[in-house]
Parts: sequence; C-alpha cells; structure tokens
Amino acid sequence: MKGFSLAAALALAGSSQAYLRFGCATLSVQRLDPLVEPGAIPSAHLHQIIGGNGFNATMDPTTDVAQRATCTTCSFSEDFSNYWTAVLYFKARNGTYKRVPQYPNALLGDLKGGMTVYYLQQDFSSNGNQKITAFKPGFRMTVGTPQTTSGTNPGLRYTCLQDVMTRFPETAEFPKQPCPAGIMAIHHFPACWDGKNLDSPDHQSHMYNTGSGGFVSAGACPASHPVRVPQLAFETMWDTRPFNDKSLWPADGSQPFVWSYEDSKGYGTHGDYVFGWKGDALQRAMDSKSLLSNGLATQTVAQSNACTIKNTVNEDIDSWLTTLPGRSM
Ligand SMILES: *[C@@H]1O[C@H](CO)[C@@H](O)[C@H](O)[C@H]1NC(C)=O
Ligand SMILES: *[C@@H]1O[C@H](CO)[C@@H](O)[C@H](O)[C@H]1NC(C)=O
Repeated sequence: MKGFSLAAALALAGSSQAYLRFGCATLSVQRLDPLVEPGAIPSAHLHQIIGGNGFNATMDPTTDVAQRATCTTCSFSEDFSNYWTAVLYFKARNGTYKRVPQYPNALLGDLKGGMTVYYLQQDFSSNGNQKITAFKPGFRMTVGTPQTTSGTNPGLRYTCLQDVMTRFPETAEFPKQPCPAGIMAIHHFPACWDGKNLDSPDHQSHMYNTGSGGFVSAGACPASHPVRVPQLAFETMWDTRPFNDKSLWPADGSQPFVWSYEDSKGYGTHGDYVFGWKGDALQRAMDSKSLLSNGLATQTVAQSNACTIKNTVNEDIDSWLTTLPGRSM
C-alpha cells in the first residue's frame, strides 16, 4: 500500500467507520512531565502537549482532569485528555539546535500545530463486534522510553513524507534522507489493560501490547491483561522542510534531527496519555457500531486554537540554541 489518498479516506469514512480520528492543536510546549517527573518544574526535557487545559506539572492521579479543565485544543469538545511527546530539533552542521515546527494533518483543517489522535475499536475498517472498555478517570500510560536503543516496538515508527498523505513505508529510526513534506512520528499504545490499575510504577506494566504496528487488528488480550481498551495512537507531523538544505547536514552523511532528550536515532521516542473524556462520552462512542453517528460534541478550529495554558517554565526554546533545553552539553 502506497500513499493513503483522500478519496480512500472518504470511502472508508462512508463505510463502517471503526475509529475516532481527530486533530488537537498545540496546548503548550514546555519542560513539564507530570507522569515521569511529577512536580518537577522544569522536567529533564522538552515536551509538546495537546488536549485540555487541566494539564500541569503535578496531575495528581486522584483528580479527574475532565473536572478541572475548562477548554480543550481537541476538535471533540468533551475530550479534556492530555497527550504529549518529546520535541524534535534540527542540529545544524555548526552544532546549534533549532526547534522543528509541527503542522496539522491535511484532513483536519487549520489547527495550530498539534497532533492527530486515533481511538480504534478494532482496525481501520471493522469494529470487531467486541466490547471496548473506555479508560477510567485517573487512567494514564506511556509508550516507549527515552533509554531505548533499538526499534523493537512495532508501534513506534517514522514516515518520511513525500507529500502530506504519505503513510508508507514506516521505519524504526529517523529517515536518513531529507523528506519533502516533513517527518511523521507515530505512536501506537497497547490496547490490553489489567482491569485494575489506573497506572503502574513504570506507567506501562498495567498495559499489554498485542498489536503488530499500524492500524491493524491487535491479537487477543492475555489473561493477565484481559480488558480490551481503545487502541490509542498519535501521529505528529514535524515540518522539517526548512531544514532540508544538505549543506547544513552533518558532513559524515548522518541525519540531523534529534529528539529533545538528545536522541539522533529516534529509538527512544515515547508518548504519554492521561485520560480525560467527560462523563461516558468515550464509552458511548466505543459502543456505537458506526462512529460516524457517535453523538460526540465538536467545536470549531478557532475554539481549539484558542485554548492554551500559561508557561510555568520560562526559557528560550526557539532561538538557534547551543544546548537543548535542560541539557548541559
Ligand atoms: C495542578 O493543578 C492542581 C489542581 O488544580 C493543583 O492542586 C496543583 O497545585 C497544580 N500543580 C501545579 C504545579 O501547579
Ligand atoms: C549555525 O547555523 C545556522 C544555520 O545555518 C545559523 O542560522 C546559525 O546562525 C549558526 N550559528 C552559529 C553560532 O554559527
């Protein structure tokens, strides 16, 4: 399968749509990490965050973020969840770093930066006729870890965008060549839950992955993690186009992009999620056979773009920097 065309997307949308796909604008770009380093202002590395304005440095698991938030950057206006990843930087041949901007998926209108979020029932074209249990208030999880040095999780991938609709091939490491329309970072989360714990010390062991990457059906959940939850995924479009001048790339031919925790291979890519849908909105959507008529409330692009939070970490993230934010060398 090559480029995923708009016509194909519309054709699928016309059949039994088995996923929620929506855009959320950027809420904030800051050194905060409420799951891994709760309370740290600043945290070790920079993140880009989307979703509700209940996001802050602590995010106490006993409080429901949907109760605290008053606006969201997501087009579904009942979704006050937060979703975040590391931030991509370009490291020029002279050793200085420049933050790479994000741009929205072409299908989703003029949102400011942000990401595309998916909640799949089973796969792109079928709901699988299985019960999908929505996450509960206080639920959180992460996928991937910065320390990882190999690309073994099939759900963590990159696509070198030839145009905005390119979806294949996917690679485990950053693309090695300039990408004409930027780089898409993909994070698929596990969809099997232990049914008991809203979180776990490593933010991952309460979940189990039976997926093999992509938007295909995951295998059956094991007895240890028997509850099927929505298959959550993020797509982030990094606009690397301003950095495609190869004379600025490393002289040894390696690629110049690094994650904000100084990862030039890309294997340490990670995503974080705090559930925050209001009431039973997500459960109702997952229970509906056709997600086209899911009854979820939406808001305009302008409303999504207007939701932001205050910067509690005030530091330069946008000049040509001699070190990455929070890194000493
Ligand atoms: C985060 O928000 C909660 C609830 O409003 C509040 O109790 C907490 O102090 C906030 N944390 C920070 C670091 O602002
Ligand atoms: C490093 O290279 C970038 C890209 O050409 C340039 O904008 C920046 O000013 C340079 N910085 C230094 C310190 O030479």
